[in-house]
Amino acid sequence: MPKPVKNNWRISTTAVHAGEDRHKLGDAITTPIAQTSTFVFANTKDIEQYTSKKKFRYEYARYGTPTQKAAELKLTALEGAESVLLFSSGMNALVSTFLALLSSGDHLLITHDIYKKTLQFCQRDLKRFGITNSLVQMGDYRELEKAIRPETKMIFTESPTNPYLFVADLPRLVKIARKHKVLLAIDSTFATPINQRPLEFGVDLVIHSATKYLGGHNDLLAGVVAGAEKLITPIRDFQKTTGGSPEPFTCYLLIRGLKTLALRVAHQNESAFRIARYLSNHRRIQKVFYPGLPNHPQHRIARAQMKGYGGVVSFEVKGGLSDAKRFLNRLKLCFIGPSLGGTETLITHPGIVTYYDMTRSERYKLGITDTLIRMAVGVEDPEDLIADLDQALR
Ligand SMILES: Cc1ncc(COP(=O)(O)O)c(C=O)c1O
Repeated sequence: MPKPVKNNWRISTTAVHAGEDRHKLGDAITTPIAQTSTFVFANTKDIEQYTSKKKFRYEYARYGTPTQKAAELKLTALEGAESVLLFSSGMNALVSTFLALLSSGDHLLITHDIYKKTLQFCQRDLKRFGITNSLVQMGDYRELEKAIRPETKMIFTESPTNPYLFVADLPRLVKIARKHKVLLAIDSTFATPINQRPLEFGVDLVIHSATKYLGGHNDLLAGVVAGAEKLITPIRDFQKTTGGSPEPFTCYLLIRGLKTLALRVAHQNESAFRIARYLSNHRRIQKVFYPGLPNHPQHRIARAQMKGYGGVVSFEVKGGLSDAKRFLNRLKLCFIGPSLGGTETLITHPGIVTYYDMTRSERYKLGITDTLIRMAVGVEDPEDLIADLDQALR
């Protein structure tokens, strides 16, 4: 199997060069899209070498393609992982990880404020397969430790979270997970490997929706699981059966997106911080949630474990739902829409978009207020974004 090549490159060089063969088909500079469903054998000796695992080769696209492998090796280098597996979406990566590693009778610990569909899958679907869960308040490590049972197999959390940007204390979580011999998996989508590399803290598995920053252009769906080979192997076997592998063209787009990851994220970190400061001083803004701000409850933790605070800023406008809607309707540059991490700035109102199917009191129980706005900063000039916010707030 192609292995990650060790090098001493810094992160932006790694993003551009890692994982790809230096000499490619026809001396092209870009990795080709191997748009094929099947890979043919030269002869029966070739088959025997493959089936006896003497030689790595591709067989069938559900089991992987060279384009997928190049993207995986690039991500392996970026995350500092032993192994990476790509999926057709972030949800596919999450669902496959849970189903491949957990069995009926196991218990899963999850923290609140995780992505709605992940929460829904754990609470509704996993339960149907006899995998129970407990939901713990993010940041309450005593409660988390108390919730661990003999049958607890995994702790799953996000950092930073969606939409409140809570930051998990990774060293503390790792200590708890190791003490109780449970797996620790983190959805690190909001951070990217540029801002945070959880495996270096001892986290067992890192998951991403590559649809967001890794792809970076609002034009693909993909997911990532990174970790030790012994954990990735059962997930890969599960994928070979269930077919969650990504399309070669998606892998090509992902490789292309990853090449500029370090540049984009550095710009987004800086712009989001500037916008968070601008919003903090605005008389029409009630509250700003951004881990870079000194008044953020986990600012100290974020400063210790992150290289940048990310491109998402959440805030509450003063007033009620109608004021929040009026603000959204006045935006001229920022698009209104879900998702994050792409080149175009996206603003969403979690209450009326993500949690549209809940009553107001159900939403409020989750902390999703009527005036909460989430801004996913793109790569535009921050001054133009601030000007757009300014005219909408006025
Ligand atoms: C933090 C987080 N994890 C996972 C997902 C799911 O990823 P995908 O949309 O690629 O399936 C999302 C989607 O919004 C997300 O925000």
